[in-house]
Amino acid sequence: MTEQMKTFRIVTLPGDGIGPEVVAETLRVLRAVGEATGFGLEVSEHLIGGAALDATDDPFPAVTAEACLAADAVLMGAVGGPKWDHFTGSKRPESGLLALRKTLGTFANLRPVSVPAALAASSPLREERVTGTDMLIVRELTGGIYFGEPRGRHAAEAGRWAENTMVYDEQEIARIAHVAFTWARRRRNKVTLVDKANVLVVSQLWREVVAEVHEASYADVEYDLLYVDNAAMQVVINPRQFDVVVTSNLFGDILSDLAATLPGSLGMLPSASVGGKVGLFEPVHGSAPDIVGEGKANPLATMLSGVMMLEELGEQAAAEAIRAGIDDVLEDNCRTRDMWQEGQQLVTTREMGQRVIEKVTQRLARVPA
Ligand code: IPM
Ligand code: MN
Repeated sequence: MTEQMKTFRIVTLPGDGIGPEVVAETLRVLRAVGEATGFGLEVSEHLIGGAALDATDDPFPAVTAEACLAADAVLMGAVGGPKWDHFTGSKRPESGLLALRKTLGTFANLRPVSVPAALAASSPLREERVTGTDMLIVRELTGGIYFGEPRGRHAAEAGRWAENTMVYDEQEIARIAHVAFTWARRRRNKVTLVDKANVLVVSQLWREVVAEVHEASYADVEYDLLYVDNAAMQVVINPRQFDVVVTSNLFGDILSDLAATLPGSLGMLPSASVGGKVGLFEPVHGSAPDIVGEGKANPLATMLSGVMMLEELGEQAAAEAIRAGIDDVLEDNCRTRDMWQEGQQLVTTREMGQRVIEKVTQRLARVPA
């Protein structure tokens, strides 16, 4: 008698540039782990970004939206590229991604930043500074200046002008604060709010509301404040001081790319966007149009996003096995182009996927059934 196997409905959105390459390798790993640990994936692929613009003249077609809303989870690659740079406003590939986040309602973007032991020595920052870094950037994802109205370009007699609006209401701030404090309790019990409260009234409201949430429900969690300019410097000079960093959409976008310098490559940073109808999992990096099709893309950020997806779906053992398998591959000195240094083994995107599958299946085979 075979038990009915658990099957997850996954929508993949490979998108543009290296997106399809890194999503393909991640899917191979997820399927292999599913076979070994006993879950199935029912995958349907849909269009987003520039690829969707080319095919349908819309960076976020309605079919894609419907499929995502009906899925257990969404795994995305990347969007954008020079081919679509002349598009403006809602016709940009990036608008497709923003519409996706808004449609799913995934207001909390979790971007963990750690430095695997095998990468510490090749970090552009000094090894002793980055070793032991373990921070979680909790970025607000569906509000702020990314979405605020009014927005747009205007023509006046005096010349062209344009505007974006940074706006948050207290409910939006409170709910992301709850996410940050909850994660802190599962980690090292510390939250740092990053803002620009010395200049922006929006940040002043963040300070008020986050302090209220802290006092009312999380007084046991250590809580401190940093201006974003200072935070940028602190990430570089003393990244180990951070546990959970909570911040707005724009500051989180910038700080997470900066934090990617710690492990040495944006190709290592995953993300999970949660709190909405369906979870969205995507690497922090972009579409890297300069290396498309050359086998140089690092699939590990997407694989680690897949790991976060499995964790959300309750497949902890499978998630842990992939994480450990990736560490094994790095310990073996296998590197894609972005991380490679003299004396190490240079592998392609595909080979990296294969190595991870080998390590993970070896690990799972060692576990007694
Ligand atoms: C990211 C990206 C996106 C963002 C772009 C592609 C819209 O930079 O996920 O960090 O700014 O959120
Ligand atoms: Mn970004």
